[in-house]
Amino acid sequence: KIDPCTLVLFGASGNLSRVKLMPGLFRLDAAGRLPEHMAILSVGRSEVSRDDWLADIKGMLDAKFKNGYDQKVFERFIARNHYFANASDDPDAYKKMSATLGDAKIFPQNFAYFLSVRPTDFAPVVEQLSEVGLLNESQYWRRVLIEKPFGTNLPSAQDLQARLTKHLKESQIYRIDHYLGKSAVQGIMLTRFANAIFEPLWNKEHIDHVQITNNETLGVGERTTFYDATGALRDMMQSHLLQTLALTAMEKPADLKPESIRAEKVKLLQSIRPVDVSNINKQAFRAQYKAGRVCAADGHGENVQGYLEELKRDGVDSSITETYAAVKLFIDNPRWQGVPFYVRTAKRMHEGNTAISIRFKKSPMQLVEGQHQNWLTINIQPRECIKLEIESKIPGLDIATRTLSIDAPQRQKEDETIDSYETLMLNLMEGDPSQYLHISEVEAQWRLVDPIVKAWAADKTPLHQYTAGNRDPEESSVIFETKDQFWRYSI
Ligand code: BG6
Repeated sequence: KIDPCTLVLFGASGNLSRVKLMPGLFRLDAAGRLPEHMAILSVGRSEVSRDDWLADIKGMLDAKFKNGYDQKVFERFIARNHYFANASDDPDAYKKMSATLGDAKIFPQNFAYFLSVRPTDFAPVVEQLSEVGLLNESQYWRRVLIEKPFGTNLPSAQDLQARLTKHLKESQIYRIDHYLGKSAVQGIMLTRFANAIFEPLWNKEHIDHVQITNNETLGVGERTTFYDATGALRDMMQSHLLQTLALTAMEKPADLKPESIRAEKVKLLQSIRPVDVSNINKQAFRAQYKAGRVCAADGHGENVQGYLEELKRDGVDSSITETYAAVKLFIDNPRWQGVPFYVRTAKRMHEGNTAISIRFKKSPMQLVEGQHQNWLTINIQPRECIKLEIESKIPGLDIATRTLSIDAPQRQKEDETIDSYETLMLNLMEGDPSQYLHISEVEAQWRLVDPIVKAWAADKTPLHQYTAGNRDPEESSVIFETKDQFWRYSI
């Protein structure tokens, strides 16, 4: 149940808001999930009238829902929407915002602030909201959603945290990782713990290694400035992939309360051994894409530029930023001691796929030769499925086996499709932080990534290249523990 509330959307004219947040809120409204008394105040830099803003929102919806949408819902949705121009040169802007929001007839007084702004603006916005009393919880709740990245390394994350907690309690801070809003990521825990057949095998006795993969066919696109300062490791691994790993490897929480789940994730993240930088070439691998040909969304091939060419277009001459990162991690706890977790992410690969692939150990006594090891794959996207590869007798006279794949789609046609941001915005308004990050998780994640970033920045490891649209560079196999390990793909 959601209390009457106002969602204050900072950065409302930005891309995330146009493509995901506004259409997402509209879909929630259409599904009857928004309370009757709920307003949306979009905050932007430019001076725009309410009418123009409403016309802009219509444009966002038209672009997203090509097959049209319900006019009645549209009218209800539009009536919820308002605009506030937060001019950067106006010293009284926040006082004015407070006066606007003070109109309780239009704006229910529980406020959820969604900060879809530049990371350097997170703390200043919170400080100014606080100064004009807009974070005061004496009568109503006040929550702040912080987009990623939360800091660019451990010290900056701690610094941001210190600035935020001067004005906010931990219970008011919602640090987002949009992967936690994905239904298939939320499902990892249930797949593990709702099936008696998996849990007994989920440990070092039976598992050879685990691969957590996020491959994209997309390149860096227009985001060269952000990406070049960030790289694959900080962009994807520090957040989404370590969270996926934590859900895959953590112990069973006592219950589904937010604090119980977070506590298990924190414990797990804290027991991952930081990579040994003196031996980094065997544990972490990086590369950059060069020009090639990828499969576009419509299935056709498309020639694409290399990363450095894209940078050159934007006036940057050289870069050692990785667009491919693969890291081998070990978890120092009784369940996982000695089992490698290979975590990898890359732009401009031959396929876009996010998956957890688990290879089981060889069965101890092989009755027939050439038996393959079992794999269990939890595919997160684009297909949400669970795939189990087992050995089975080849029918006929010979006693021999081959691999059968039991492939179960998790999503059925009639199932509700809900974007991760929709889920997370609902959770924010409901006051359910279970799919948001606790500061200890963010810190643990930076602790793991920082030493690698540092070693790479010092250029101590080779930066390899791969052709856009290809599979992993061959040299990346240097991080495998044994010769018989190899990268898994969906196709
Ligand atoms: C974002 C990264 O956090 O996640 C992007 O900044 C990346 O670089 C994106 O493309 C991937 O998200 P999804 O939901 O498309 O897998």
